[in-house]
Amino acid sequence: MKVLVAYASSEGQTRKIARWISDRIADSGHSVELASVADAAGIDFGRFDRVILAASIHVGHYQRAFTDFVSTEAKNMRGTQVLFLSISLAAAGHDAEDWTGLDRVLSDFCAATGWTPDKTEQIAGAYKPSQYDVFRRFVMRRIVAAKDPQAELDADKEYTDWQRLAEEVDDWLGL
Ligand SMILES: Cc1cc2nc3c(=O)[nH]c(=O)nc-3n(C[C@H](O)[C@H](O)[C@H](O)COP(=O)(O)O)c2cc1C
Repeated sequence: MKVLVAYASSEGQTRKIARWISDRIADSGHSVELASVADAAGIDFGRFDRVILAASIHVGHYQRAFTDFVSTEAKNMRGTQVLFLSISLAAAGHDAEDWTGLDRVLSDFCAATGWTPDKTEQIAGAYKPSQYDVFRRFVMRRIVAAKDPQAELDADKEYTDWQRLAEEVDDWLGL
């Protein structure tokens, strides 16, 4: 099996997730190509048996580069099985309102791009104050303080559940 993993990442967690998945697929004896959406522009999807796309949410939207990529490539992805990994901090919790928000971000994205993934998994990302500018640090500190009172607000914290991610990806790929 040959798999394409293409991602958009602002602070690096989605890139880390995409790399980790790629290594896992390669370790299980399959062929994998890892690329940012910028590098994957114009790629021949016909070369792949499966495609995994990953992007993260910032202020209720996926990266502009990701939306542009999917809008452009939607017609070329027809006939290719695609798993979409939606990375966010909302997915780290169990707040019903947050999860409704995740559904809304996804449906807005599908409406805007005219593309619907075969399957979507909501995956928890990371809090990375080391990567934020002053404004982002201020906003994110408040959000994380409210959602995760135990978090050390000056330290990066990963919420990604790697075991669950592995199970979802393995299951979808039939590994
Ligand atoms: C400025 C900013 C805005 C964010 N907005 C949201 C949001 O609206 N909803 C959410 O669930 N997570 C939000 N997050 C959390 C990110 O989705 C999370 O940190 C993710 O791991 C980022 O992935 P990346 O490192 O690949 O960019 C935001 C993060 C930042 C820095």
